[in-house]
Order: sequence, then structure tokens, then C-alpha cells
Amino acid sequence: MHQKIEADVAIVGGGVAGLSAALGLRNKRVVVLTKSAFGRGGSTPIAQGGIACAMGKDDTPELHAADTMVAGDGLSIRGCVDVLTQEGPARIRELIEVGANFDRTEDGELSFGREAAHSRRRILHANGDSTGAEVERALVEAVKRADNIQIIENCYVSDLLRRDDHVVGVYGIINGTEDVIQVNAPAVVLACGGIGRIYRYTTNPVESVGDGLAIAARVGAVLSDVEFVQFHPTALNTTVDPLPLLTEALRGEGAVLLADGKRFMVDIHKDAELAPRDVVARGIWAQQQKGLSVWLDARCVGEKFPQKFPTVYGFCQQAGIDPVHDLLPVSPAAHYHMGGVAVDENGRTSCKGLWSCGECCATGVHGANRLASNSLLEGLVFGARVSQDILASIDWGNTPEPDDVNFVIRPTFVTPAEEEDAWLLRNTMWSDVGLVRCETSMKHALSVFDEIAARKPESLMLCNMIDAARIITQAALERKESRGGHYRTDYPNHDEHTEHHPFVYTGNGPWC
Ligand code: SIN
Repeated sequence: MHQKIEADVAIVGGGVAGLSAALGLRNKRVVVLTKSAFGRGGSTPIAQGGIACAMGKDDTPELHAADTMVAGDGLSIRGCVDVLTQEGPARIRELIEVGANFDRTEDGELSFGREAAHSRRRILHANGDSTGAEVERALVEAVKRADNIQIIENCYVSDLLRRDDHVVGVYGIINGTEDVIQVNAPAVVLACGGIGRIYRYTTNPVESVGDGLAIAARVGAVLSDVEFVQFHPTALNTTVDPLPLLTEALRGEGAVLLADGKRFMVDIHKDAELAPRDVVARGIWAQQQKGLSVWLDARCVGEKFPQKFPTVYGFCQQAGIDPVHDLLPVSPAAHYHMGGVAVDENGRTSCKGLWSCGECCATGVHGANRLASNSLLEGLVFGARVSQDILASIDWGNTPEPDDVNFVIRPTFVTPAEEEDAWLLRNTMWSDVGLVRCETSMKHALSVFDEIAARKPESLMLCNMIDAARIITQAALERKESRGGHYRTDYPNHDEHTEHHPFVYTGNGPWC
């Protein structure tokens, strides 16, 4: 079956960024395509950490911007950071108006938590550590109430459609079928999340395989700063995949890291366990390289643990651990991609007709290292700006038919025959292009990706994983310094002259 839909805007992705963009497009025919069941997949529903926003009495957008700039390690773009912190409070108020319930004090005021590298208590949470689920619930319900938004779920977007050099739509395949959905639209938004799943250890869900990078790269879109991957220091070190996240708020509450019975972060950074994420993650990695296991001692939270951190408590129970009395085994895990499709402060990419928001793009807000709890806010703020820019800039005439397209039918998710190659890729990214990298390890990684590509994988997912892995590795080879989430043993210092890193992927990918 080949179904063709005429729309004004096609949005790929149903998380906070995509749905914020959709809700801003009143009176336009919007189609949202989601790879999994609507509202269930992707990173937003499982985000534990909250939303950073300068709404407290002792806080200002300028203070929030200053903390974001410090975390970004010299690469955050001030103009975009100001947009984030100044427009954030209004977007939060709108989210509350559409029904999101954030945790409040006994007086009914919004309650603000503290996280590492924030100089104020400014983190909003919902149901303790279930913030993303509440944000997604509220947005999904608002989208369902909007009669201009059509949802196509379980549809894996394969590629963008073009007319000359304009993007004029998308096509995808309904999972498990040979059914093609073609959406013709003069504006397309990529909001399809991150890349964590190309790493062996990750907190990210199955959807986060770098689709946005791969799809954009195939139409020649400029990417930016893709070498910067954030590793969360504390995932629960169990055998499940993805690894359950132990929110940073635990360390905000006083939990400490131990190896061989001793706190090691106090010797590494003045802020110890609350040092920037990349520093804590590498601190744990260094202990692991010595053969030591690392533990989070969160017993300070006490008997209120199940109420304060219900999600984490549930994970611990599933692993047979009692966090009120036991130490928690931890490992760093790939968590967030700072780089992505290069966009301006309105989410415009280098390709006409193509916008991007959320984790799959690089606004420049996060620089080399994202400040905790800034990502849900970024999705809200820049999703809304994308919709405003589309409304202001598109000439709403007829959408031209795309140039001739070869609609290739492929399996969507990794097939059983490809499982081993998917693991090989993920293990290689972890060991060779992970928290610590060097030229030798990255060249080795590229040779492994060539071997996998030579076996001509079929599934969209594995093809995109290979493209994303090559893109990150090639870009990381080009950045000859260490900064934020990118640490090279062969170039351990900052290079003050190194700036943003636009990157155009020229590899053939496994598509040829
Ligand atoms: C966390 O709660 O530690 C994760 C929050 C985030 O990554 O922003």
C-alpha cells in the first residue's frame, strides 16, 4: 500500500520538541509521525530530571544563562542561551495551562530543586522523578484535542522528499509492513531525538539511534558539534538495556560516589560529586579502568526514598536492591547528544523547507556539555520558535510534487540477522569513541563500521546507526582538542582557537 497525504507541515517525532512545534501551528494541517506508539516512545516520557527554569524569587534568566554558559565549556552560543532562559518561563506557564502538574510546596507554590552546576534552586519536577512522563502526558492530551493535527504512529520515517533543492515532505514505512506513507508538505521538522542507542551503555530508549542526523545528512544538511556526547555519570549498573538512570537529583540530595569504600571525587574537583557531568563521568571511568567497582551511596535520602524518587526506587526493586539501606552499583552511560543538525535560533537548517528542534539538532545552547535539566526546556522553547518561524516564512501555495523518488521498502527495526552487527557497533562506539578517545581508537572504529556496512544491512535502523556512528567518529577525529564531553588522550587540552564545528557528511553510508 502507498498512502499519500497532503499537509502543511510534517513533524518527525512526538516528544517535547515535536509536540511543542505541532501545538504552535494552529489552523495548519499538521502531520506528526512517530516511530513507536504515540506518546510512548523516545526520551521525553522517561526523562527523570526536571525542567530548569528561572522562575524562583531569587533567580533570573541572566543567572540561568550564566550557569548554562559555564557548563557549555566555551561553546554555548550566548544569543541562543538567552532565548532559552528568557522565553523559558512563558513556555512553562503555557505548559501548566494545558494541564501539566508540577510538584508544589505545601503553600501551593512551584517547588524548585537544585542540581549540579546550577547556582540556584530552579529545577521543576513532576511526581518526584517522573517529570518527562507528565510533560509528555500533558502535550499528548493537548495534541489529541487539536483537530488540525493528525498522528501517524508506528511509522519509521525513511527519508526526506525533495523538489530541486527544497525539502517538500517525508516518507516512511509502517513498522512490520511494506506500507509506505508519503507526506507532501512545504515545511518539515526533524524532532526525532538523540543517538544514545549507538553506544553499548546508554540511558536512552530503543528509538534513539541517530535517525535525525542520518536523514538530514543524506540531503546534505550541515551538522554541528556532533562529536559532543554527554555521558551521564550514574546509571544503575545492571544487565538491562537501556541502563536505568539514577537521577542527578540524588547527588543534589547528598548522595556520594565510592570506589574501594572511599569517596574519590573529592580529590578530582572542588565540587566533588556535583562537579560538571563530564568530570564526574570520567572520574568514575578512571576508577573502572583500575578494575574497581563504583557505588552510589544514596542512603542519606532515607525512608522517604520511595516517595521522593519513585522511578528510581522501582528500578532498584526490579534489580533486587534496596536503596534505603544498600549501595547502588553505577556506571556512566551515553545520555545526551549536544551536537546535531545545525540550526539557527529559529530552528532553521541549511536546507530550504527543513527545520529541526530538540535533541537531534544543535542550537548551540548546550555547547560542549549540557547543563542538567536544560533539554526539556530547550524542546519547549525552540519547538515553539520553529512553529512561529514556519508560520512567518512559508508561502502556503500548493506543495510541489517531489522529484522522482525510489521508495525503498526495508525492514524498519534491526532484524534478528543484524543483531550481532548492531552490538558490534555499539560496543565499538563505547570502547573507541566513548568517554575517552584518541586517533588510534577512532580509526579502528571507522574500520569496524566499514566492515559492518560491507555486509549490506537491510534495516533502516541499522543503516542509520552506521551513518550516525561514522558521523560522530569522523567529527571527533577532526576536533583535535579536549573540551566538555569530547576528551582525547592524544589532545588532552583545550585549544583556545577551536570553535564550532560545522560538519557535512560525505560518506556513502550503507545505502549505496
Ligand atoms: C538527571 O536527572 O540526572 C537527568 C536530567 C538531565 O539529564 O537533564
